Order: sequence, then structure tokens, then C-alpha cells
Amino acid sequence: MKLTADFLVIGSGIAGLSYALKVAKRGSILLVTKRQIDFTATRLAQGGIAAVSSEQGDFAAHAEDTMVAGVDLSHREIVDMTVGMGPKVIEDLINWGVNFSRNDQNEYDMTREGGHSQRRIFHTKDATGREIERALVAAVQKHPAIQVLENHIAIDLITEEKLQRNPNAKNRCLGAYVLDIEGEEVITIGARFTVLATGGAGKVYLYTCNPDVATGDGVAIAWRAGAAVANMEFMQFHPTTLYHPKAKSFLISEAVRGEGAILRRRDGTAFMADQHPLKDLAPRDIVARAIDHQMKKYGDDCVFLDMTHQDADYIRDRFPTIYETCLSYGIDMTQEPIPVVPAAHYLCGGVQVDSYGESGVSNLFVIGESACTGLHGANRLASNSLLEGVVFAQRAAEASLQRLATSKSDFPSIAPWDSGNATNSDEEVIVTHNWEEIRRCMWSYVGIVRSNKRLCRALKRIQLIQQEIIEYYWDFHLT
Ligand code: SIN
Repeated sequence: MKLTADFLVIGSGIAGLSYALKVAKRGSILLVTKRQIDFTATRLAQGGIAAVSSEQGDFAAHAEDTMVAGVDLSHREIVDMTVGMGPKVIEDLINWGVNFSRNDQNEYDMTREGGHSQRRIFHTKDATGREIERALVAAVQKHPAIQVLENHIAIDLITEEKLQRNPNAKNRCLGAYVLDIEGEEVITIGARFTVLATGGAGKVYLYTCNPDVATGDGVAIAWRAGAAVANMEFMQFHPTTLYHPKAKSFLISEAVRGEGAILRRRDGTAFMADQHPLKDLAPRDIVARAIDHQMKKYGDDCVFLDMTHQDADYIRDRFPTIYETCLSYGIDMTQEPIPVVPAAHYLCGGVQVDSYGESGVSNLFVIGESACTGLHGANRLASNSLLEGVVFAQRAAEASLQRLATSKSDFPSIAPWDSGNATNSDEEVIVTHNWEEIRRCMWSYVGIVRSNKRLCRALKRIQLIQQEIIEYYWDFHLT
């Protein structure tokens, strides 16, 4: 099957959905997503979206906190631009129907997380991402120009270079081959603009609070198409996910510490005070490393997050999702500290893009967690990710709409996917085995604290697995 659209959007988190809404008045959109439309990392975001609340707010302080968290590896002009667009994109989200929490004076209730010197995080209790995803999905589903293809996974980009049409021209993206998972067919989608908004890569680690779809494949297909990737070593580990054998790395938002919770060892000793002037609200990388150190030093399986000094009614009202989830595992956070461990959380690097979100392959935009825009440097400031997703959706929309106006042309003809001599696999379990091996290797050797020796061990193992995967990929039909 062959489809065409002005805009092909791959991914349905905050970045992909807001890009689709921004361009929807001007062309046809195909929005492809691996599972159901709301099965995204955005939906799991708890803390909120960091933004200065009005044009009179303290932009300089937000930019400074972002630079400090990023260990001065963030790009200053990108930081200033992103922070500066905060009030505008918050207004867009509200206009699309997002309800942020308000205080008793009916003003937006600003919360705080690690690395923030001020309260500047819009939130919807402790389920901000769920509310944003709800509102954007509703807006997208109502829009006649946007067609959503669920259970479709992009497998490769189609480029001028791959088709070897014009070797002297700048490499240009022409669409993507997409597997219809239920129909078991690879379809060809020709598009004037292709937008990758495929999220992160937490699932390459054994322990992650990311959803199962966060497998880094968007970054991989951009790389195969010739785009540069950068800063992939900067995987951010969230300091606090629930430690319980049955909880699949459930996140305990940093906003819990923002509202006063304290990290303690099993014996009750608080340990962040001598690590950083901001104590429990130090930037996330520092807190994650401190926890890792405590666990290794004392041989403990976890540390504890203590909020029992706060009023129980306040806890239940402010953190209903976390309270209920912990309770379902037999932990009442109003009465006892929550056992927590760090887990892989956010990919600070990704496909290298310019200030409009465009990669080195023209007409290929990459936005959200899959992109390396220069905002996050070595370590993302809490709640800057939803902000980046919607700011770069806006920037990419501006750039593509401007180009659309001057470059309307027919869709080029593209050959269908060729599966060569591939046959049906008789042992799909190999994929699971390879995946498990990668996740364990990454957790053991490329984790929170690294050494050259461990990285070399990982490299050897990954190279071997890579070879096996390449053979498997070409020998068997895609599933
Ligand atoms: C959290 O709620 O702790 C996560 C927020 C973020 O990753 O920005």
C-alpha cells in the first residue's frame, strides 16, 4: 500500500501532537504511532512543565538554572529562546484545553523540582502529562486534516540518497516505510515533511520508568538516513522510582521532594545535606549519583523518601496518583517512607537539529526527546522536557509551513519496501533474548557511574549482538 501526506508525523506525545495541531490548517497529516495514540512517555509525566508564567517573569533565572543543571554544556542561545517562549506555549496548551492546577486564590499553582531556584512549574496535581495528552489527543482526533494510524511503527526513512536519485543534491527526506503491525504489511508513505517525535530510549536499560515504546528507534532510523546524532552518553537517571518487585519502575515525582520530602538511608539518616547546597533539591544527576553511592556503600537495595512530616490530607490531595499507586503496593506514604531507587529516565542527546528542529537531512524534523537541540546539555533540568517538546513543535511548524508555501510539488515516486528473500522467523524468541542482553549490559556497564573499563566491556558485547541483529533483520520478515 502507498499513502501520501503533506506532513508525516511519527509519534504521538506532546511534541508530535502539538506539531500536528500547528500545521493542520495548511495541509494533510498522517500521524503514525506504535500502539494506541496515548501510549506515550508524555502521558506518564508527573511533575509538570517548567515555564515563566508571564512576560514580566524571571526568564534569566530559568535560563541560569537550565545552564547549571546542564553542567554548562547547554547552548545558551537555545536556552534563552526556549525559556523565552514559555508563556506563549503555556497559552497554546491552555487554548487546546489543558487544565493546570490552581491555588486557593485561583492563580496557577507553581510547584518546584530539583535544580529550580524558584517555583515555576505548571502542573496538574501529579499527573500533568496525563492531562496534556488527554487534551491534545482530543484536539487531534477532532481535526479533519489529521489521520491517525495506531499500531504502526516506522522502520526506515526514505531519502534521496537511499533512492540514489540525485547524488549531488543535499540529502532530502521523502517519507518513511511503516509497518502496519496488525496487517503485517510494510506501507510506503510519501511526505513533503517528515517529523520524528518518537521519544527516548529508556528501554535499552534494564530498569526504566519509560513506557515500553521508548526504544530509541527514531534516533536509529534518523542515523541510518544520514542525520548526525549527539550527546547519546547523557542518559538521565531519575533518582526516585518505586522499589517494589511488582511495580514496573513507577516514578515518584521530584515534585514530592519539591514539596518537602527528604531522602534517607534505611537507618533514617538524611544524606543529601552534605552533598549539595540545594540538599534534596539538587539537580537530578547529583541526587541519582548520591543514592547510587549510598546503596553501594551500605549494601542496601534502596533508599527511602520520607514525607511523613507533611499533613496527610495535603499529601493525598496534592499527589493522588502517587499516593494511590503506593497504597496499592501496601505502602502508605502518609505514614511511612517510600522505598526508592534510580532508573533510566530521559535521553538528553538524540538527533542533532538546528534551532527549528531540522536535522542534517532536509525536510526531516526531529522534536521532543528524540532530538538533541542543545537545551539540556549533560543533564536536563526537571520539567524542561515538555517545554522543549512544545517549543520545538512550534519552531518546526513555522519552518515547514514557510517552506511548504514555496515548494508545492508532486510527490516523488518511491519504490515499495523490498523484503528480498526474507522468510518468517521460526524463533522470534531470539529478539527477546537480544533485547534482554542489551538491557542488562547497559545497566551493568553503562549505568549511573561509568569507567573506561566498563565501557569497553559493554562495547565488545554490543558489537557482537549488533552483528547477530543485522543478520536476523535481513533474513526474516519484520514483525
Ligand atoms: C518528575 O516528575 O520527577 C519528572 C519530571 C521530569 O522528568 O521532568
